[in-house]
Amino acid sequence: MFNIIPRIFSEKSQIIVGLEIGTSKVSAMVGELTESGGLTIIGGGTAPSRGVRKGEIVNFEKAEEDIRAAIVKAEESADVEVGSVYLGVTGAHLRSLNNRGFNRVESAEHEVSQADVEDVLRSAKAFNKPSENTVLHAIRQLFTVNGQSGIADPVGMKGNQLELDVHVVHGVTTRLQNPALAVRGLDIDVEELVFSGLASSLAVLSPEQKENGALVIDMGAGTTEYVAYCNGVVRHTGILAVGGDHVTNDVSYGLKVSTHCADSLKKKHGSATADGALHGKSISLPNELGLQNKQINLDHLHKIMHARVEETFQLIDAELDFEGLHSQIRSGVVLTGGGARISGIKKLAEEVFELDAAIGTAGSHNGVKGLLDDPENTHAIGLVNYAAIRSRRSRSKGWFSKKAVAA
Ligand SMILES: Nc1ncnc2c1ncn2[C@@H]1O[C@H](COP(=O)(O)OP(=O)(O)OP(=O)(O)O)[C@@H](O)[C@H]1O
Ligand SMILES: [Mg+2]
Repeated sequence: MFNIIPRIFSEKSQIIVGLEIGTSKVSAMVGELTESGGLTIIGGGTAPSRGVRKGEIVNFEKAEEDIRAAIVKAEESADVEVGSVYLGVTGAHLRSLNNRGFNRVESAEHEVSQADVEDVLRSAKAFNKPSENTVLHAIRQLFTVNGQSGIADPVGMKGNQLELDVHVVHGVTTRLQNPALAVRGLDIDVEELVFSGLASSLAVLSPEQKENGALVIDMGAGTTEYVAYCNGVVRHTGILAVGGDHVTNDVSYGLKVSTHCADSLKKKHGSATADGALHGKSISLPNELGLQNKQINLDHLHKIMHARVEETFQLIDAELDFEGLHSQIRSGVVLTGGGARISGIKKLAEEVFELDAAIGTAGSHNGVKGLLDDPENTHAIGLVNYAAIRSRRSRSKGWFSKKAVAA
């Protein structure tokens, strides 16, 4: 059983742990946040995940064992004791929308106060959601004061009418509670639940990219999350219950090989671009039943992979068009998660989205290089980043209430 008292790393620093309970692996990343706001990723641990399907726990016992294994490795690697985590959540039940809140500024001087901001945020969070759902995030976009739009912080401004646009992510309460239950079952507290796509975006994007508009796609094993930023704020998020394992499955069926063999073909010889340039080149695969070797046509392999990844990107592209965001994404597309390792995926993204594309890691962070360079770690590192941003913001405001931080 874990010791739940977090080790005080140094008098003035705070230890933050981000935990992803992914479909293929559980990942726990440990950050140290100094009083001056500097963040360093000081360690992390990963364990294979056996109790998760499409980003949601289907076997509690196995999930708990795997979470424990990842946490123990993270504790050893960072030399800390993990008492609480920021937990990433995903799943096909999550929904998102943009909503606008309104508030009349009642003070005699008509000066927007922090209380007005909280009121308008409350109003923006009120919308017609299914009764079984909970709001996971109400991410502030920009304020409008007396018709003047595009205001990042209205406190202190004069005005009668305050409006605020928010991006809301909500999901089925019980399905959000499940991963937290598994973590609490190990005597580890859950500080906050965070949409995994949002976390990944915080690990890979610079402030400039957010400002210029960027699309982050985290392709994992069982899900693909995406987040679009325009003018520095989150404008759209979504989830597809499809990931790299579906590419593997397609290869397995298409080439009539085992899943294990399909996974290795995908990683060693695969490509998401299928231009037929290999002119029918084949490789010979040892037959798993000890029979004659099997010939695998590489053009065929690439065509299968191309079809699945292209379809995934096209679905996201259609959403961007539907939301009218395409022209606002000027920095391009950042691909992350293990699926970003698929050879040729950057080129395919550039073709589908007609934008520049890049593979995103947490490489711009300080810390253990081996952890920062893996696209699989961006989700958990992004969770650490999320917590650090909250912490810095609440310190600078000088108010520490959970309610304020959650807003
Ligand atoms: N070199 C590679 N080439 C192609 N695919 C790869 C490569 N390395 C890993 N993958 C794929 O990446 C996926 C795992 O990615 P990741 O670790 O981000 O998933 P996860 O976080 O466990 O899942 P999810 O986020 O969907 O719950 C698997 O489908 C794996 O086959
Ligand atoms: Mg993942």
